[in-house]
Amino acid sequence: MKIRKAVIPVAGLGTRFLPASKAIPKEMLTIVDRPTIQYIVEEVVASGIEQVILITSEGKAAIENHFDYNFHLDKILIEKKKTKLAEEMRHISNLIDIVSVRQKKPLGLGHAIWMARHVVGNEPFLVLLGDDLVLSEQPCCKQMINLYREVQESIVAIQQVPLDQTYQYGIVEGRKVRDRVIKVDRMVEKPAPGTTRSDMAIIGRYILQPDIFNILETTTPGHGGEIQLTDALLALSNKRGMYAYQFDGTRFDAGDKIGYLKAVIAFALRHPDICVDFSDYLKDVAGQL
Ligand code: UTP
Repeated sequence: MKIRKAVIPVAGLGTRFLPASKAIPKEMLTIVDRPTIQYIVEEVVASGIEQVILITSEGKAAIENHFDYNFHLDKILIEKKKTKLAEEMRHISNLIDIVSVRQKKPLGLGHAIWMARHVVGNEPFLVLLGDDLVLSEQPCCKQMINLYREVQESIVAIQQVPLDQTYQYGIVEGRKVRDRVIKVDRMVEKPAPGTTRSDMAIIGRYILQPDIFNILETTTPGHGGEIQLTDALLALSNKRGMYAYQFDGTRFDAGDKIGYLKAVIAFALRHPDICVDFSDYLKDVAGQL
């Protein structure tokens, strides 16, 4: 079955980015000239998806407004003869069909995804975390959809991390079936040091079979009192089988200070308007270190 829908949970509190995220959603923080969430929605669009389901919460209206049509702004830009800018703003509001669902309490990523069940229905779907950016030639989601066409089962995107950092991630263990593809045997959320030999960490891109919704319904709160997605993923992999895909590209955790700054640098060095000047500036700064 074709993957048509993408769920993007953005209802988290963003405590790692306080105070910046106190009144502004962390997904709206700027990477060069657009908010993080716009890059994520653009990845979805470039991957051929038809609908985005945002899981939002109180205080996240700026995200919905960003993808809406702003009549007042459009009128002013036209009056000021800034036609190109007006077109660009209209383009953002026409990117893709967006539906939003409220998660009333931040009960965890698993719970946020479960909130999408009525809109997704009985079909496989994508999940992208609203603060996880991937820079790649071919969009990460597109790479995963290509693999899905072949395996027709759930897929989690993974990246290799240093062994002494595995405790920060959900870790996948399994059998390598070919270059970049692992058949999942086991998954563990934030394993204590020394309890896994795998260095394959799950990042914020998933293709899930709709069976996940029934599993999430009965998943009890885990780590941190939240309904963890990893617990439900393990149950899903036992029930139907699951693949892990080592995507081609670089991932940035833009919900974390260092990850965010790295993303700003990487995207700025690729931005046609500023890449040359910015690269010169970075060379200057590096020379002073
Ligand atoms: P994170 O753990 O990175 O986000 O969740 P957080 O909870 O907002 O951030 P910190 O850790 O307090 O700084 C990953 C994604 O899942 C969403 C977040 O918005 C983020 O995009 N999420 C998390 C929800 O939508 N609901 C939740 O209950 C938890």
